[in-house]
Parts: sequence; structure tokens; C-alpha cells
Amino acid sequence: MAKRTASFICQICGAVHSRWQGRCDSCGAWNSIAEEATATDTMPANLRGGRRGRLIALESLTGTSEDAPRVQVGISELDRVAGGGIVPGSVLLIGGDPGIGKSTLLIQASAALASAGHRIIYVSGEEAVAQVRLRAERLGLAGAPVELAAETNVEDIVATLSEGRRPALVVIDSIQTMWTDTVESAPGTVTQVRSSAQILIRYAKRAGAAVILVGHVTKDGQIAGPRVVEHMVDAVLSFEGDGAHHFRILRAQKNRFGPTDEIGVFEMTGLGLSEVANPSELFLSNRDSGAPGTAVYAGMEGTRPVLVEIQALVVPTSLGTPRRAVVGWDPSRLSMVLAVLEARCGIKLGAHDVHLNVAGGFRISEPAADLAVAAALISSLAGTVLPPDSVYFGEISLTGAVRAVPHAVARLKEAAKLGFTRAVAPAAKGAGGREPAEAPLAIDAIGSLGDIVAAIAAKGPRRPAAPKQEG
Ligand SMILES: Nc1ncnc2c1ncn2[C@@H]1O[C@H](COP(=O)(O)OP(=O)(O)OP(=O)(O)O)[C@@H](O)[C@H]1O
Ligand SMILES: [Mg+2]
Ligand SMILES: [Zn+2]
Repeated sequence: MAKRTASFICQICGAVHSRWQGRCDSCGAWNSIAEEATATDTMPANLRGGRRGRLIALESLTGTSEDAPRVQVGISELDRVAGGGIVPGSVLLIGGDPGIGKSTLLIQASAALASAGHRIIYVSGEEAVAQVRLRAERLGLAGAPVELAAETNVEDIVATLSEGRRPALVVIDSIQTMWTDTVESAPGTVTQVRSSAQILIRYAKRAGAAVILVGHVTKDGQIAGPRVVEHMVDAVLSFEGDGAHHFRILRAQKNRFGPTDEIGVFEMTGLGLSEVANPSELFLSNRDSGAPGTAVYAGMEGTRPVLVEIQALVVPTSLGTPRRAVVGWDPSRLSMVLAVLEARCGIKLGAHDVHLNVAGGFRISEPAADLAVAAALISSLAGTVLPPDSVYFGEISLTGAVRAVPHAVARLKEAAKLGFTRAVAPAAKGAGGREPAEAPLAIDAIGSLGDIVAAIAAKGPRRPAAPKQEG
């Protein structure tokens, strides 16, 4: 008989506590601990001790093993983020805010694979079959031979999957709605989610079918409930975007079978998610190149260059403490750029509010954006419009030097493709100065932050700083 006990489990990190408390010691979350009934020994009796283990054949690293052929979904933005296609037997977790388009993306992927002759099973725990059908109809995919089910019990699902031809892909939408007979907690609790995920992962590995789990994301950006699921699966992808913009970004946070710096860019349309092959065009489409405080940054996302506009607004502060507001970039990186501007170039912004925005809701993580940020800040402060045909990239060090960054040629090529004619960038060093020879556009080589301050200041203000407007 399984002994039943209650334990107190943090619904965010999965830590187990012996009694209820207001705050989880392990992850620091408030009010996240809930009582869950658990069967202490769901393990079969023969594994609980006493049994002598079976001998396992150990193997060497160099043996022959069949190279896992990846299944190409045919949606190249998705295939690239997954590492070049989906690996059979792997389990992916796709997280994202409510309504961001997770089900849309996965029904599109399912339909594409099913139309290519694969067996695809889509299990919805949130919507009735009719609702899934309705979505497919709206997207024009109703003809694809995807097999649908509306089900939440994992044992029933696994039993169904084990019948008939092995599916190439199983979509579980979402893992939070799944429950298993082996534990007694309510669906959606950490214990249920973890146990259900374990059973589905075991199925995937045993059957060699790829499984995609959908996970909801909480307000603060965690994949809801158990972070424990994140390290059980082979890859964690997040689907991001905000309500104000049509585009969505698929990003790999963890991937055992591919890189984690690739992004896939989609646009949400009435006919579903369409791939954006050239994100730079999208991000620069509403550019206001005639205003001070904007600079185009030539960035990289994985293997792909992406151009985005960086907007800065520097205005005298009306309050005691100056505001520093950043959207789409690392606030501590902004503080550093401001400190270097002050210490090395004598530009004091202690009495100014600084607002920084990456246009279009895009998020940048590369330090290579430092130079573009600095240029936008100086441009706003000086009221000078930066040349509209220039792009900026380079990392700023604490000494004020501007450092070379990787993939300069790819950044320059992308800029040239979009009609830019100049790049303000660190002088390329090393490799025998090979890069400038290949450079598809003119480089204004910058050695230190002082150089760019001087270059912008030399042009003088085009117009006096705009009077402050209220409201
Ligand atoms: N008729 C329509 N025309 C255009 N876009 C639509 C239409 N209906 C839905 N959408 C888009 O699809 C989105 C919902 O997509 P979807 O159901 O795939 O999201 P989800 O991430 O699965 O959400 P949930 O977390 O609720 O499961 C909506 O936010 C909307 O942007
Ligand atoms: Mg959904
Ligand atoms: Zn916790």
C-alpha cells in the first residue's frame, strides 16, 4: 500500500517544505506554497530496495549509433530555433504569455508535418476538438490529416499514442492541464505537472516520437509552476511578443540539440503566423530618421544579423532624482554607458531623465549595442540628428575605448542590403585587418567614446532642444 502524506510544495520552484509558510526559502516567492497530497512511494516495490540490480552493458563513446535524422517542420523560423529540425525522441517545452499564439504556431507546425505524410497527434487539454478545428479552418489548414484529441489524462493519452503507427510528433497543449492517476494532487499543481511531464518524456524516449509540451508563463515571465520541467526536457523555447505589435519572436532558452542564440521571427496575421525572413525590414519600417536621439544598431541574433532602431530621450529632470527608464535593453548596461560618458567624456547626465527604447518591442542582449546607445544618447542631448544612412555597433569598455565585436562583416552586409552606406564601428583589428577589405560599406572607425562625442558635437544642434511638453 502506498502511504499517503501531505506535503507543502512551492508552486513556482517545486521545493518541498515540511509545513506551510508565507515565503519559499528556496526561490523567495511569496504565497507560492500549497498543500499537496502525494503518495510517498509510487515506485514499484522491487525498486524500493532489497532487489539486486540488473547488470547494464556499458558502452564506449565511439560506438556506431544511427544519426538521428531531424524532422524538418518546413517552417524555417521554427526549424532553425529548434537547431535544424526536431529530433525524434526529444521533448520540447514552448512557453509564452496567454494569447501570444502558441496553439496557432503548433497547429500550423502539425498541419505542415501531417501534410508531408507524418503521423501527427495534437492533444488539447484546454480546448474542445471543435475549437481546435475552428482555428484550423480559420488558418486554412482544415484539410491537413492531423489527428486531434481533447484529453487531459496522461495514462489515456500514452495508451492512445502507443496504438498504431508511431507518431512523428505529439503536441500536448498544455502541460498544466495534464494529470496522472499516480499522484493525487489537483491538476495544475507542481506535483501533477512534474509527474505528467515525466510520463510523457518517458514515452517520447521509448517510442522515439518527438513531443512538444506547451507551458503557460506567469506574469513575471516564469514558465508557470515548475521550473523543474525545464530541466527535464531537451529544449525550452519561449514565444515572445507584446500586444502592441504584430510580430512574435521564438527564442531558444535551452537546447540539448542546438544553439540557444537563434531566434525565429513571425508576424501574426489573420491567416496565422507568417514567417519573417528579413526581420530588419520589419523593425525599421516605421523609422523616424529625422529626429534627434535615434540610432540604427546593427545587431546579431545567433547567426542572423538584425537591424533595429534605438531611441533615446534625454531631458532635464523635473524631480529630485533623475529617472532611468529602459525598454528592451539591460538597465545596468545603460548605467554603465552613462557612467563612462561622465567619467571619460565629461558628459554629466545627473540632472537629466534618460529614457531608452528599442523600437518595435524588440529585446537586445548584446553588449555590441553600447555604441548605438551612446550615439542615441548624445544625439538626444545635443539635439543633433544622426546621419540617416549610418549604422552603429561596438562594445564600450569602462576605459572609454570602443572594442571590436564578433561578426562585423555579417552586420555590415545586412546594413548594405538595407541601403545604409556608412557604419560607425570600432576599427577592425587582428586577422591582418581582413575585415575592412571585405567590408561592403564605408566604416567610420571609432577608437574611443570621445571620438563619437566629438563627431556628433561637431555638427552642432540642428535645432534647440525641444521645449518640454506635458501630458
Ligand atoms: N480572427 C483572427 N484574426 C487574426 N488574429 C486572430 C484571430 N483570432 C485569433 N487571432 C490571434 O491569435 C491569438 C491567439 O492565438 P492562440 O490561441 O494560438 O494563443 P495561445 O498562446 O495558444 O493562447 P492560450 O494561452 O490562451 O492558449 C490572438 O491573440 C490573436 O492575436
Ligand atoms: Mg492555446
Ligand atoms: Zn519556491
